[in-house]
Amino acid sequence: GLKKKEVHVLCLGLDNSGKTTIINKLKPYNAQAQDIVPTIGFSIEKFRTSSLSFTVFDMSGQGRYRNLWEHYYKDCQAIIFVIDSSDVLRMVVAKEELDTLLTHPDLKHRRIPILFFANKMDLRDAVSSVKVSHLLTLENIKDKPWQICASDALKGEGLQEGVDWLQDQIQ
Ligand code: GTP
Ligand code: MG
Repeated sequence: GLKKKEVHVLCLGLDNSGKTTIINKLKPYNAQAQDIVPTIGFSIEKFRTSSLSFTVFDMSGQGRYRNLWEHYYKDCQAIIFVIDSSDVLRMVVAKEELDTLLTHPDLKHRRIPILFFANKMDLRDAVSSVKVSHLLTLENIKDKPWQICASDALKGEGLQEGVDWLQDQIQ
């Protein structure tokens, strides 16, 4: 068949936000892992959509590994940034990390799409994706297309909408 266009994606966000759970859910059912453990360093994963073949660098969000992120900015064509919507206390840390990446020389002024998942929307303490968007001041991002989707990675809800948007941005 036709070879799908390959896209390199970086999956970023604080530890425990649900990055690995999200990427796992995007794989075909028989390729999904049953137990998800905190990522050490990073892990390279693949999934496909109707027209694209995604290679994802699923980075660890733990503080001690966050300095690895910037080494992968140069080669990425899209970013998935995951936020735990129920962890309002650490949203200021997520904002700091986001602001640092947005001003990094390897990403600044590049029109690469950023898909935000306001994840864990199933939890009682979760705030809305609109609230997450305000707390992270996403409206200030002017040089990159971005979208925020509420998601529940355990049930797989909200993931497809996000990936459909990403696919449209890349074509
Ligand atoms: P690091 O690899 O340490 O950076 O974390 P991560 O962002 O990859 O998080 P991971 O996918 O390992 O998920 C962390 C925990 O959150 C796990 O216990 C998941 O089951 C749980 N989790 C992930 N997504 C959701 C969600 O949408 N809702 C709920 N309730 N729990 C979730
Ligand atoms: Mg992980």
